[in-house]
Amino acid sequence: MKIELGQKLYEGKAKIVYATNRPGTVVQYFKDDATAFNALKRGTIVGKGEVNNQMSATLFRLLEKARVPTHFLEQLSGREMLCRHLDIIKIETIVRNIVAGSLAKRTGLPEGTPVRPPIVELYYKSDPLGDPMLNDEHVRMMKLASPKELAWLKKQALRINDVLRPFLLKKGLLLVDFKLEFGRHRGTLYLGDEISPDTCRLWDAKTRQKLDKDRFRQDLGGVEDAYQEVYRRVVQDGKAA
Ligand code: TMP
Ligand code: ASP
Repeated sequence: MKIELGQKLYEGKAKIVYATNRPGTVVQYFKDDATAFNALKRGTIVGKGEVNNQMSATLFRLLEKARVPTHFLEQLSGREMLCRHLDIIKIETIVRNIVAGSLAKRTGLPEGTPVRPPIVELYYKSDPLGDPMLNDEHVRMMKLASPKELAWLKKQALRINDVLRPFLLKKGLLLVDFKLEFGRHRGTLYLGDEISPDTCRLWDAKTRQKLDKDRFRQDLGGVEDAYQEVYRRVVQDGKAA
């Protein structure tokens, strides 16, 4: 059955989600639009949509092989991915291997300090509130996820780190930290959203040069080049192998 796009279900900062003619599925369309600091900063990163879609597809396939259930079904085009339609859990799950970003601010530890063993953090997915940090008791109080679901998603987050970290290191990339979203579909939990330089911090393993959205957030220049470099290492290199 040829997949046809139906109505727009949701438009976010970086993606549009469409209904399709196949029940239980949606299409994620990846835009070049970029925002930071809860959309106070806006811009365009040319070619980002294609990088993020294809890198996500590559990493979702890798995770499926490692038996992590993901919403990914099929890559439809350069910017479109067919996915299971999830009821998204309103928690952003962050895994950290190296201190950077808000963890450096919160703790005063210098950027670049190893985090051993890696840690998992939870944030409330709420634009009006600016994604505040939550602990397990807040999650229980707000009924964002059941205790069983929460335990599952924290365990999956660390398993995902165990798959992605060595894979990316082979491509010369340090996986500093990343954000995951999970959701429910027909009684089962799946990893959703995307895994891309928008949602991961990636540093060159030799030079520690930033190759992710921090170049946009911090006005470091070379934003498009960084996304293309990650594309070459993760997507193209994978195809050649
Ligand atoms: P943080 O250090 O700003 O808390 O970010 C941690 C990770 O989460 C980093 O890899 C970037 C990613 N992230 C998102 O995907 N979306 C967001 O809105 C923010 C703030 C961070
Ligand atoms: N995408 C988020 C926003 O618009 C933040 C970020 O990635 O830094 O605020």
